Amino acid sequence: MKKILFTLILIAGIAAGLRAGNPPDEGMWLPMFVERLNYVDMQKMGLKLTPQEIYDINNSSLKDAIVNLGDFCTAEVVSDKGLLFTNHHCGYDAIQTHSSIEHDYLTDGFWASSLEEELPNEGLTVSFLVKMDDVTTRVLADVKPEMSESERSAAIAKVYEVLKKEESADGKYDVSVKGFYNGNEYYRFVYEVYEDVRLAGAPPSAIGKFGGDTDNWMWPRHTGDFSIFRVYSGPDGKPAPYSKENIPLKPKHFLKISLDGVERGDYAMIWGYPGATDRYRTSHGIQATINEIDPAIIKVGGKILEIMKSDMDKSDEVRIQYASNYAGLANFWKNKIGESRGLKRLDVYEKKKGIEDKFAAWANADESRKAIYGNVLQDLTDVYNTYAESKYYTKLWYLQISFFGSQMMQFPMQTQGMINILKSGQKGEELQASLAPFYEMGKGQFKDYNPATEEKIVAAILELYRQDVPADALPDIFNLIDKKYKGDVNLFAKKMFETSVLTTREKYEAFLAKPSIKVFENDLAYKLTNSFYSSFMTQNMSVAPLGDKLKKAQRLFVDGLRKSNPDKVYYPDANSTMRVTFGQVLDYFPADAVHYDYVTYTDGILEKEDPTNEEFIVPARLKEIIEKKDFGRWADKNGKMVVGFLSNNDITGGNSGSPILNGNGDLIGLAFDGNWEAMSGDIAFEPELQRTINVDIRYVMLIIDKYANAQNLINELKFAEKTR
Ligand code: ARG
Repeated sequence: MKKILFTLILIAGIAAGLRAGNPPDEGMWLPMFVERLNYVDMQKMGLKLTPQEIYDINNSSLKDAIVNLGDFCTAEVVSDKGLLFTNHHCGYDAIQTHSSIEHDYLTDGFWASSLEEELPNEGLTVSFLVKMDDVTTRVLADVKPEMSESERSAAIAKVYEVLKKEESADGKYDVSVKGFYNGNEYYRFVYEVYEDVRLAGAPPSAIGKFGGDTDNWMWPRHTGDFSIFRVYSGPDGKPAPYSKENIPLKPKHFLKISLDGVERGDYAMIWGYPGATDRYRTSHGIQATINEIDPAIIKVGGKILEIMKSDMDKSDEVRIQYASNYAGLANFWKNKIGESRGLKRLDVYEKKKGIEDKFAAWANADESRKAIYGNVLQDLTDVYNTYAESKYYTKLWYLQISFFGSQMMQFPMQTQGMINILKSGQKGEELQASLAPFYEMGKGQFKDYNPATEEKIVAAILELYRQDVPADALPDIFNLIDKKYKGDVNLFAKKMFETSVLTTREKYEAFLAKPSIKVFENDLAYKLTNSFYSSFMTQNMSVAPLGDKLKKAQRLFVDGLRKSNPDKVYYPDANSTMRVTFGQVLDYFPADAVHYDYVTYTDGILEKEDPTNEEFIVPARLKEIIEKKDFGRWADKNGKMVVGFLSNNDITGGNSGSPILNGNGDLIGLAFDGNWEAMSGDIAFEPELQRTINVDIRYVMLIIDKYANAQNLINELKFAEKTR
């Protein structure tokens, strides 16, 4: 019976072009291979476009409307004047940078009523994918199985340079080569990078971040998570640095807006730049994540957030200064809490173990296979055991999060290049000219910086280190703290902030005006960071051989896994390259007896409203629109106003801002989040539970039109003909 059923499923699967055995919703596929691997499925599910309409390197196609925004998010072109939609949380840092107590765009939103009012953003880029190709054979040409990992890396690096140069068109393009399937395959990507990207519009945080960190990573959701930018080119249409002479980009392709609305089961695909997944992490890695990695991040991150929040609540200035850093860390921190929970609840360890048992049986069934893959699982066990014994992950993550959450850990590192200049013997004007970049650094550093907050963060980090990092691995600054400050980390932090020339803008600039190498090298802030950094380097050196062993075992594991299941098409982990995921608009059952519908309405905004909680304030004008049902042509066919909807697409961080498209390739919303019940999704996809949270494009239109009255933007958009 079982066998017959199996055969039937297999035949049906092949007939449907399913070869994969994956549910179609799982997988982040490379656009170049969509025609070969996924097109039949996509078409069956509702895609109406031809393969050439979605990915073509000779003619304009859908892929030309999808961009990598600043290497951390996705955006899409929505007008013939280079207008871009992305998430509010993707624009958040830019919005924060332009904000001050006088112009608080975080709180009030920002709407440019003409091109002249759009705000430039230094350092923010937009990359268009020109094409990609498979370069595996060339990258691995000189690689031999018996090579050490460093020999292997060197052999690969040599080819990388050649491959990049070939396609760079004398610097016109940015070319990158990336490893896939844990280094078993390599592809080359050619990008055209635009550097003049301006902010055109953003709703207030009470819309764009409605629900705040409480609702973050959760459904039901009522967040209008969008912001609007514009790409500019030089007068010749080519990439150019910011200049008043630049003009709005004339794009190859832009998306039309669909006002059809969503229904359960509708075809939905998401294009974008997912950052990183670890779907081939083994049971050993799952254990490390649950027992060591996530707890370390949660503990240090939680402490830093608590300190920031308490100071942000006391001062508007500090609130604005720390808004973006806080949101970034809070987002990551909550993600890790959800990930731990999900890994445990969903028995991911057991599932991975099952896959590994099959792998072992396959590897050991044949002598020649055994020679290649026979040690893989044992090697993984050995590496992870050694990591655990040495508390490697605690040390690693305490440091990473400390550098991420404490500006005082970063700044001395950035400025240490000064030492060489001071040693060079330059004097007077010549010296001051060499120090110019350091004055600039200071301006950046002290803009979003509050010394009192930073002092508390430094003390807290030191305290946690003392508690949880083995004594023999503590950075040597602790010797000084013990000897001169009786082990009192608060006293040390206080003294450091008092005496260091790196802790306030005034002191720093006074120091630059009369610099001294002795003062710099004896500076407590410099000593602190330097000590943490050297201890990190020492630690890294000591575990480098383990890292190599892990890399090799993981590569062989993925290679063996694919060979042992030749009928299954494995998709590669996300690595910030363009991907497409396709599925449906879909509800889910988050827990026994609980059903979550696939759309939310504006009524839910009023249900959640709480004027005493900054996360749930509803702006008066929005409230009026909702109460008067002033939804115009953006309402659904029952006159109700949809805010967000769910789909079963497979996305991760980096996809934020991605367009979610219907079968015609028209824009139905922007993807912006994942859901709480499947937060282990970066490690194991959960078809029954995993959902993408999208903001409905009609809600985006409502806010632009009725809330902001930004008709200049609405007029630029093109709407697809209604099909229902
Ligand atoms: N969880 C979202 C993501 O990683 C970010 C949401 C930002 N919102 C917030 N309340 N922090 O894509």
